[in-house]
Amino acid sequence: MSNEKRVAVITGGASGIGRETSLIFAKKGDRVIVADYNEAGGKETVALIEKNGGEAAFIQVDVSNYESVEALVEQTVLQYGRIDVMFNNAGIGLPTPVAALDWDAYHRVIDVNQHGVAYGIIAASKKMRELGIKGVIINTASVFGFLASAGSFAYHATKGAVIMMSKSAALELAQYDIRVVAVAPGVVDTPIIQGYKDLGMADEMAHKVMGGKLTQPEAVAKTVYLVSLEEAEAINGSVVMADQGYAS
Ligand code: NAI
Repeated sequence: MSNEKRVAVITGGASGIGRETSLIFAKKGDRVIVADYNEAGGKETVALIEKNGGEAAFIQVDVSNYESVEALVEQTVLQYGRIDVMFNNAGIGLPTPVAALDWDAYHRVIDVNQHGVAYGIIAASKKMRELGIKGVIINTASVFGFLASAGSFAYHATKGAVIMMSKSAALELAQYDIRVVAVAPGVVDTPIIQGYKDLGMADEMAHKVMGGKLTQPEAVAKTVYLVSLEEAEAINGSVVMADQGYAS
């Protein structure tokens, strides 16, 4: 790679895992595009980065809309001239019980978690190929991409899809030196699990985590950063666990 700074696009950068990942990439010297539909939260992430002397900009995106994701990639390249890392991380966790299915919730989860990742893979790889960049695309899967729980069958389907899309895209894009990797967190202490906390289920979930504490979003962020490095070149088409043993 040249001496030019890397440019990393991080969706879901307004909160949780995406925010912590944005902070780490910036701290390590990368330029970061914080992408989210939550403008206030995204700008807060940018302010935190700038306070620490890092470089970042916010771009609003709705990952469930292909034109919006394509515009995100275009604007990134207009602003910073390149795109080296695409972290497709934005996601939602709506319950979708089989017995009382709400079609809107079902479609929304698939649109954001599954189509959103597909759009990110397609738009970013297209641009990386156009610019001849040996990039890396990292997608947030979950242990729930291969472990089931009751009441959210669409969420499980989307995370399973993220794993298989990552593997297939990795096989296809290897010829262009573009890697695609899925990172699978376990249970991470972010706003997405507030519902479980409200029901008093978070402690129970933590029992399955080595050390007995919920995984902190910074820990997942560090895994994402490690996977993004050139030194991780052999990690391709893989599911990298960031679950502190949850699925063990
Ligand atoms: P979070 O709720 O803190 O962050 C999710 C972010 O995605 C929010 O900033 C939200 O505004 C953004 N977002 C949602 N829909 C969007 C859309 N259509 N367009 C643009 N941005 C959108 O949750 P967390 O935990 O940081 O989640 C990040 C990813 O990690 C998700 O894909 C989630 O499924 C996954 N994950 C989370 C786990 C956990 O226990 N917290 C475990 C395993 C995976």
